[in-house]
Amino acid sequence: MKVIKLENIDKCFGEKKVLISVNLDVEKQEIFGLLGPSGAGKTTLIKILTGQLPASAGKAYVFGENSERLKENSYREIGMVMDNSGIYERLSCYDNLKLFSSIYKIDKRRIKEVLTAVGLGGEKKTSAGKLSKGMRQRLILARSILHRPKLLFLDEPTSGLDPATTKTIHELLFRLREEGTTIFLTTHNMEEAAKMCDNIALLHEGNIIEYGEPEELCRRYNSENQIRIFMKNNQMINIINSPESAGKIEQMFRQGDIVSIHSSEPDLEQVFLRLTGRGLEE
Ligand SMILES: Nc1ncnc2c1ncn2[C@@H]1O[C@H](COP(=O)(O)OP(=O)(O)O)[C@@H](O)[C@H]1O
Ligand SMILES: [Mg+2]
Repeated sequence: MKVIKLENIDKCFGEKKVLISVNLDVEKQEIFGLLGPSGAGKTTLIKILTGQLPASAGKAYVFGENSERLKENSYREIGMVMDNSGIYERLSCYDNLKLFSSIYKIDKRRIKEVLTAVGLGGEKKTSAGKLSKGMRQRLILARSILHRPKLLFLDEPTSGLDPATTKTIHELLFRLREEGTTIFLTTHNMEEAAKMCDNIALLHEGNIIEYGEPEELCRRYNSENQIRIFMKNNQMINIINSPESAGKIEQMFRQGDIVSIHSSEPDLEQVFLRLTGRGLEE
């Protein structure tokens, strides 16, 4: 059984079509990344999957259940990180989590464990309102995994965070996957997606325009197949990887011009650019 299954999902807000016939499967223990620029429909799709919004057409299944009618038991298996954080500013980190542990009837010992896991072990008594942006995001993440969900939705989990916090979060997500968690994340950071995700989908104007493993996608779009050469005079040149280039490269070698040679598969950013004519950060 797929953890997530979307069949021909449409979503309209009034006249505006935000999602158009989206089909998607996510397997157990997969880190799946939904990529697209701002306004592409990423958050809308998460809201449909978590029963916060109805689809206009099509079916969305989570753990095999229709997402519009998820049962209490299924919600207990889901964790979510969205912008509406639901953190109580005046409560300490510990008390914020204590509140949730009583709702979910979770052993209090788990609170310390989770705070340590997100690197907030030393901030138990700090009130949430006093946390830095990166710490706050880690507290939100801590809350979302407190009940050991089998499926975690993360809407732009590292957007605007410093590299150290981003790294902590990435490491935690890898650990969660090892423990069997399925992770559905959205990002407009292609580098993050390439590093984190087993599979990604590129969402553009409501359509999934590409799907696959990040590396495989990059290779697929490596039509130009270029070789990149760094020269002693600090120049960088790109040469087509073909027999005709052999003479030219040999000559550079003989002259001792070459510092290093690299293959140059396009990165995901370039794949997206090639598909849409647009960058992700616009
Ligand atoms: N409740 C809503 N009512 C009307 N339009 C909405 C609503 N929610 C989102 N939209 C529109 O749907 C589009 C996709 O939004 P969203 O899913 O938030 O994109 P993303 O998360 O990829 O940035 C945007 O054009 C946004 O303005
Ligand atoms: Mg969004």
